[in-house]
Amino acid sequence: MTTGKQWSSQSAIDYYAQHRHEVADIYPSETVFLPRILFPGAKVLDVGCASGGFFNIMRSYEPAVEYTGIDLSATAVEMARARYPEATFVLNEGFTLPFEDNAFDLVHCTSVFNNEPNYQAILKEMYRVSNRFALADIRLLKGIGNQISTTYNIQFEADGIENTVPYVVNDADDVVNFILQLDPKPKALRGTGYFHTVAKEAGTDSEICMTILLLEKGNATGGQTVFDLGDLPIEFSAT
Ligand SMILES: C[S@@+](CC[C@H](N)C(=O)[O-])C[C@H]1O[C@@H](n2cnc3c(N)ncnc32)[C@H](O)[C@@H]1O
Repeated sequence: MTTGKQWSSQSAIDYYAQHRHEVADIYPSETVFLPRILFPGAKVLDVGCASGGFFNIMRSYEPAVEYTGIDLSATAVEMARARYPEATFVLNEGFTLPFEDNAFDLVHCTSVFNNEPNYQAILKEMYRVSNRFALADIRLLKGIGNQISTTYNIQFEADGIENTVPYVVNDADDVVNFILQLDPKPKALRGTGYFHTVAKEAGTDSEICMTILLLEKGNATGGQTVFDLGDLPIEFSAT
């Protein structure tokens, strides 16, 4: 996993203080599901919230969201609390979420699984504490067996400090199979994304599918999960 120390480096803190607080800052793929699944009074948990930018983004879509953010960086949590005192921020590493089962309507997580080899542990916790939706981005490729995990140096706005974190790409079918064995079996799995060239640190020459997955918790009708992955430029064997 990455550590609070890595994400508390001055350049990372400064970057997330200045970026990704407005709808205009986020990727078009990140706007596909989010505005459709928020509703007045929705209880939202944001895993890896940095300085709380997605609170501001979510309330641009739906002013009455009840937002909680967690992050493993104490500096990020302090900054988020100072900037958005009307939201709740908790210092937590994502692997054991300090919340009851089904506590949130939406559990959201962006730009975490690309640096976290054990995405399964976090996704399982996200699903447990959600009563309806879990929304996360993840980088996928077909036929890589399980996972490619290399390392690279995160340097935000060139402060010259070495700060190496994992760079993680997961096998597309492996991820879907993992999701299908969550309990309860998801009612639906939707996805959107696009292929994008990544720098050599990804450990592959291929373009990588930058993917957003929306899991809908509930009882799969007749034990069958509804798949809506047609927008993704990947053929899944598991579906
Ligand atoms: C790349 S930033 C993304 C911030 C924000 N989610 C976004 O998309 O703009 C990753 C953030 O997630 C936090 N983080 C990484 N792994 C985490 C984990 N396992 N649990 C909680 N926070 C984590 C880092 O401290 C950092 O603030």
